[in-house]
Amino acid sequence: MKRREERSKAWMFLWGVLPIFLIFGGMIGVAWSDNSFCLGCHQDESLKKQDTRGRSIPLFVSEAGFKNSVHGILSCPDCHTRIKDDAHAEGGKKAADKSVNCGACHRGAEKEYLQGLHSKMIMKGTERAAHCYDCHGKHNIQGSKNPKSMVHVSNIDKTCNRCHADAIFVREHALGAAIPKEEFKESVHGKTGEITCTNCHGSHSLRSLIDPQSSIFRSNIPQTCGSCHPDITKQFIESVHGTLAARGRSDSPTCTTCHGFHGIKAKIDPDSPVHERRIAMTTCPQCHAAERISKEYRITTVPVKSYYDSFHGLSYRGGDTFSANCASCHGVHAILSSSDPKSMIHKDNLQKTCGNCHPGASENFAIGKIHAIPSIKGEEFGEKVVGWVRVVYILLIVAVIGGLTFFNFMDWLRKTIDRAH
Ligand code: HEC
Ligand code: HEC
Ligand code: HEC
Ligand code: HEC
Ligand code: HEC
Ligand code: HEC
Ligand code: HEC
Ligand code: HEC
Ligand code: HEC
Ligand code: HEC
Ligand code: HEC
Repeated sequence: MKRREERSKAWMFLWGVLPIFLIFGGMIGVAWSDNSFCLGCHQDESLKKQDTRGRSIPLFVSEAGFKNSVHGILSCPDCHTRIKDDAHAEGGKKAADKSVNCGACHRGAEKEYLQGLHSKMIMKGTERAAHCYDCHGKHNIQGSKNPKSMVHVSNIDKTCNRCHADAIFVREHALGAAIPKEEFKESVHGKTGEITCTNCHGSHSLRSLIDPQSSIFRSNIPQTCGSCHPDITKQFIESVHGTLAARGRSDSPTCTTCHGFHGIKAKIDPDSPVHERRIAMTTCPQCHAAERISKEYRITTVPVKSYYDSFHGLSYRGGDTFSANCASCHGVHAILSSSDPKSMIHKDNLQKTCGNCHPGASENFAIGKIHAIPSIKGEEFGEKVVGWVRVVYILLIVAVIGGLTFFNFMDWLRKTIDRAH
C-alpha cells in the first residue's frame, strides 16, 4: 500500500516537473534561434570585408529588419547552412561560405526559376544575372503583397532597372537600346501603377526574345498583350497581318511593330506612332510604300501613292481631321483583303464603310476603284484604260486648244494684213 503511494507520488512529481523541463527546454531552443550569437558580431555596422576586387562589403545585418521579414522565425544557419560557429570570423582559409539555397524550402519557385534565362546565364558564368536575392533581397524579404517588398508591383520596375537601366550593363550585355526606365514610366502602362515588367515578361521563368517559348518571342506577342486586350488580339489573329505573323514572318506587323513596346502611348497622344496624323504617313506606309515588301508579297504600293493624290489624302495632309486615313476604310486590327466578305472594303460593305462619313451614300457612290493611279503603265487593266483615256484626252485638249489658237492667230494675221492694205 505504502509502496504504491510512494510510486504515485513519484509519478506526480515527474508530471509536475516535466512541464517545467519542457518550458525551459523550449526557452533554450528559442534562445538558439533568436540569432543573438550571430548577431552579436553582425549587428556591428563597422564590420566589413574586402572582396576579391578590393571593395569593402558591409557585413551588417539589421536585427529589426530580419525579425520583421517573412523569415523572422528562421535562424541564421537555416539559410547559411555551411556556417555553424564563429570560426569563419578569422577569415583566411576558414572564410565563411555564404551561399544560400533558397530552393531547399521554395521548390516551386526554384523550379520555375531554373527554366528562365537569368539562372541559365548564371550557370554560364554571368556574374551579374539575377539571383533570388537580387529580386527579393537577403534579410528583409517580404511577401509580394507587402508594399515594402522588392517585388511588390510598385517596386518591381526599380528592382529590375537596377541592372536593366544601367547604361554600362546594357552595353556589356548587348541588349540593344532598350533601357526600360523613364520610357516605361511615361507609357500608358507605366502610368497606371498597376502594370509592370512582369506582366509581359513573367517573373521567374522569363526568357530571351529569341527563345521561341518566350512571352516576347515575335509570334507570341499577340497572346502576351492579349492577356489584357483579348478582343483586339482576337481581331488581329484573324486578320491578314495576324495570319502572316502567326507563320513567324518578320515582315508582318505585330502589336509592337505599330505600337512599340516599353513606351506604348495612348492613340490620342500626339507622340504615339499610331496617332491619327501618323497612320497614313508612317504606320501603314512603313511597309505598304516599301518596294521590297510589295515585291515579295505581290501587294501593290499603289494605295499609298494614290491615296496622297486623292481627295482624302490631300485634305488629310492639309490637316483635315475629318478626312479618311487608311484605318477609316480598312480598320486597324481586323484588316482583311477586299476579296474577304468580312472585309470593310469588300464591295458589299463599301456603302456602309463610306457611309460612316458620307451619310446617305448610295450604292453607286462607292463604285469604281479607290486606289488608282491613271497611267498607261499602270499595274492593272483598269488603271491602263483610265491611263489611255487620259492620254487621248490630253491629246484632244492639245489639238482643240492648239487648233483654236492657230485659228485665232491666222484670223488675226489675215485681219492685220487686210488693215494694212
Ligand atoms: C565573433 C564574431 C562573429 C560571429 C559570432 C559570427 N560572425 Fe560571421 N563574420 C564575422 C567576420 C569577422 C566576418 C568576415 C570574415 C572574413 O573577412 O572573411 C564574417 C563573415 C560572415 C559572412 C560573410 C562571408 C562573405 O564571404 O561575405 C556570413 C554569411 C556570416 N559571417 C554569417 C554568420 C553567421 C550565420 C553566424 C552565426 C552562425 C556568424 N556569422 C557569426 C564575424 C562573426
Ligand atoms: C532567408 C535566408 C537567410 C537567412 C535566414 C539569413 N541570411 Fe544572411 N544572407 C542570405 C543571402 C541570400 C545572402 C547573400 C548570399 C550571397 O551573396 O551569395 C546573405 C548574406 C549574408 C551576409 C554577407 C553580407 C551580405 O549582405 O551579403 C552576412 C554577414 C549574413 N548573411 C548574415 C546573416 C545573419 C547574421 C543571419 C541571421 C540573423 C542571416 N544572415 C540569416 C540569406 C539569409
Ligand atoms: C527576376 C526577379 C526574380 C528572381 C530572380 C526571383 N524572383 Fe521570386 N518573385 C519575383 C516576383 C516579381 C514575384 C512576385 C509574384 C509573381 O510575379 O509571380 C516573385 C514571387 C516569389 C515567391 C512568392 C512570393 C509571394 O509573396 O507571392 C517566392 C516564394 C519566390 N518568388 C521565391 C524565389 C526564389 C526561391 C528564387 C530563386 C530560386 C526567386 N524567387 C527568384 C521575382 C523574382
Ligand atoms: C529554411 C527554409 C527557408 C529558406 C532557406 C528560405 N525560405 Fe523563404 N520562406 C520560408 C518560410 C517558412 C516562409 C513563410 C511562409 C509563409 O508565411 O507562408 C518563407 C516565405 C518566403 C517568401 C514570402 C512568400 C509568401 O507567400 O508570402 C518569399 C518571397 C521567400 N520566402 C523568398 C525566399 C528567398 C528569396 C530565399 C533565399 C534567399 C528564401 N526564401 C529562403 C522558408 C525558407
Ligand atoms: C507591355 C509589355 C512590356 C512591359 C510592361 C515591359 N516589357 Fe520589356 N519587352 C517587351 C517586349 C515585347 C520586348 C521585345 C522587344 C523586341 O521585340 O525587340 C521587350 C524587351 C525587353 C528586354 C530585352 C531587350 C533586348 O534588346 O534584348 C528587356 C531587358 C526588357 N524588356 C526589360 C523590361 C523591364 C525591366 C521592364 C519594366 C521596367 C519591362 N521590360 C516592361 C514588353 C514589355
Ligand atoms: C542583377 C541584375 C539583374 C536583375 C535585377 C534583373 N535582370 Fe534581367 N537580365 C540580367 C542579365 C545579366 C541578363 C542576360 C543578358 C544577356 O543576354 O547577356 C538578363 C536578361 C533579361 C531578359 C532577356 C533579354 C533578352 O536577351 O532578350 C529580360 C526580358 C529580363 N532580363 C528582364 C528582367 C526583369 C523583368 C527583371 C525584374 C523582374 C530583371 N530582368 C531583373 C540581369 C538582371
Ligand atoms: C498595323 C498596325 C497595328 C497593329 C499590328 C496593331 N495595332 Fe493596335 N492600333 C493601331 C492603330 C492605328 C490604332 C489607333 C486606332 C484609332 O485611331 O482608332 C490602334 C489602337 C490600339 C488600341 C487602343 C484601342 C482603342 O480602341 O482605344 C489598343 C489597346 C491596341 N491598339 C492594342 C493592340 C494589340 C494588343 C495589338 C496586337 C494584337 C495591336 N494593337 C496591333 C495599329 C496597330
Ligand atoms: C497587364 C495587362 C496589360 C498588358 C499585358 C498589356 N496591356 Fe496595354 N493596356 C492595359 C491597360 C489597363 C491600359 C489602359 C491604360 C489607361 O488608359 O490608363 C492599356 C492601354 C494600352 C494602349 C493605349 C490605348 C489607348 O488609349 O489608345 C495600347 C496601345 C496598348 N495598351 C497596347 C498594348 C500592347 C501592344 C501590349 C503588348 C505588348 C499590351 N498593351 C499589354 C493593360 C495591359
Ligand atoms: C510591318 C509591315 C506592315 C505594316 C506596318 C502594315 N502592313 Fe498591311 N500587309 C503587310 C504584308 C506583308 C501584307 C501581305 C499579307 C499577305 O499577303 O499574306 C499586308 C497585307 C495588307 C492588306 C491586304 C492586301 C491584299 O492584297 O490582300 C491590306 C488591306 C493591308 N495590309 C492594309 C494595311 C493597313 C491599312 C496598315 C496600317 C494600319 C498596314 N497594312 C500596315 C505588311 C504590313
Ligand atoms: C477612302 C477609303 C480608303 C482609304 C482612305 C484607303 N483605302 Fe486602301 N482600299 C480601299 C478600297 C475600297 C480598296 C479595294 C480596292 C480598290 O477599290 O482600290 C482598297 C485596297 C487597298 C489595298 C489592296 C488590298 C486588296 O485587298 O485589294 C491595300 C494594300 C490598301 N488599300 C492599303 C491602303 C493604305 C496603306 C492606305 C493609306 C495610305 C489606304 N489603303 C487608304 C479604301 C481605302
Ligand atoms: C473618315 C471619314 C471618311 C470616310 C470613311 C470616307 N470619306 Fe470620302 N471624304 C471625307 C471627307 C472629310 C471629304 C472631303 C475632303 C475634301 O475634299 O476636303 C471626302 C471627300 C470625298 C470625295 C470627294 C467629293 C466630295 O464628296 O467631296 C469622294 C468622291 C469620296 N470622299 C469618296 C469616298 C468613298 C468612295 C469612300 C468609301 C470607300 C469614302 N469617301 C470614305 C471623309 C471620308
